[in-house]
Amino acid sequence: MRTRPLKVALLGCGVVGSEVARIMTTHADDLAARIGAPVELAGVAVRRPDKVREGIDPALVTTDATALVKRGDLDIVVEVIGGIEPARTLITTAFEHGASVVSANKALLAQDGAALHAAAEEHGKDLYYEAAVAGAIPLIRPLRESLAGDKVNRVLGIVNGTTNFILDKMDSTGAGYQEALDEATALGYAEADPTADVEGFDAAAKAAILAGIAFHTRVRLDDVHREGMTEVTAGDFASAREMGCTIKLLAICERAEDGASVTARVHPAMIPLSHPLASVRGAYNAVFVESDASGQLMFYGPGAGGAPTASAVLGDLVAVGRNRISGTTGPGESAYAALPVSSMGEVVTRYHISLDVADKPGVLAQVATVFAEHGVSIDTVRQQGKDGEASLVVVTHRASDAALGGTVEALRKLDTVRGVASIMRVEGE
Ligand SMILES: NC(=O)c1ccc[n+]([C@@H]2O[C@H](COP(=O)([O-])OP(=O)(O)OC[C@H]3O[C@@H](n4cnc5c(N)ncnc54)[C@H](OP(=O)(O)O)[C@@H]3O)[C@@H](O)[C@H]2O)c1
Repeated sequence: MRTRPLKVALLGCGVVGSEVARIMTTHADDLAARIGAPVELAGVAVRRPDKVREGIDPALVTTDATALVKRGDLDIVVEVIGGIEPARTLITTAFEHGASVVSANKALLAQDGAALHAAAEEHGKDLYYEAAVAGAIPLIRPLRESLAGDKVNRVLGIVNGTTNFILDKMDSTGAGYQEALDEATALGYAEADPTADVEGFDAAAKAAILAGIAFHTRVRLDDVHREGMTEVTAGDFASAREMGCTIKLLAICERAEDGASVTARVHPAMIPLSHPLASVRGAYNAVFVESDASGQLMFYGPGAGGAPTASAVLGDLVAVGRNRISGTTGPGESAYAALPVSSMGEVVTRYHISLDVADKPGVLAQVATVFAEHGVSIDTVRQQGKDGEASLVVVTHRASDAALGGTVEALRKLDTVRGVASIMRVEGE
């Protein structure tokens, strides 16, 4: 074993960073044996220097993260600050001054992954970010390395624990969205401002990262179609149950059937109870991968939390440490396929549509005609009448989102259609 230690700087010492520091200390001997050199914590950058941080030597703490990454003697910089700036500049500065980088920053990787990979490559350094998607679950490395010889066609994931907790509560207790969100907040699963989670921004960042790696193509955050889950109702769950389904907020990355393009999207969807993702409960995450040769794979586990996320960061630290010692780098960005990313209108899936209609003869025929005129084929229809009004639940065969959109627009113009109560995509069949 090399006696000269690998010097590691920690940028951020919050929920994740404090656990990274703790495990670096408690597992120091094992980490050294696995890497082939001891690991030394060389500095810790934070915002509030006076905060008591258990197990951290106060002499290592600084508020000057820029000076820390410019030291020039660092081997690895672990970025667990989050957000775009100053994280982005700190990472590129770290490369310029000779360090490799491990990051957990999904927002930054989804927005600027290509530029950061280019900077890493220019300086001959590693950029690893297993913790950026689905916390502790090994996903980036399996996609990037284990499945590098296969052809991934689809990645279907529950990649946000907060929204899965809320939807699971709604499903299992009949609670409404707000009640379930309040419980998630009280239990610490949702932040005071839950927008990033419930509006799907967090999942969209992860979808962009996953799609890029899975399809060897650059997928930008703007390429990901995003819909949140704040409008899912207890009634939607009742409809889902009648179909033998539940509702999940899914990140879906797909290769088109002709293989010539890809799509990435995040939205709530019904999935059959028989699908493995339907049984992912509480705040857990799971990602279902379909590939040519491997068939179906499922990755499951805790998608957030200090220690689980630190597990992924430490795994990267070991991998990057080994690379440093052997004087090499791991795989960089693989975007050679350069496939176009299609818009949501071209996505093909099934739909569950609830309509409030007048309860009189001929309405069903009128509605069916609108579907037929837009080339959307109906699988099942269920009608329920009450006091001159009726609800019509239509489940379609596979159709494009654009065709479905045109159908709904035309339905809204019918005198006999009082309103479109809900539209939900049906996935995982
Ligand atoms: N939390 C999770 O479960 C989880 C899961 C997966 C990925 N991640 C990712 O991990 C990263 C960190 O998340 P977290 O939950 O650990 O965040 P956090 O608890 O808010 O910690 C952020 C840390 O960064 C420090 N910091 C903030 N601005 C800084 C600046 N300008 N210069 C130096 N230090 C600064 C803060 O200092 P103070 O301590 O002084 O405030 C704090 O120590 C994010 O990218 C997040 O997306 C988190």
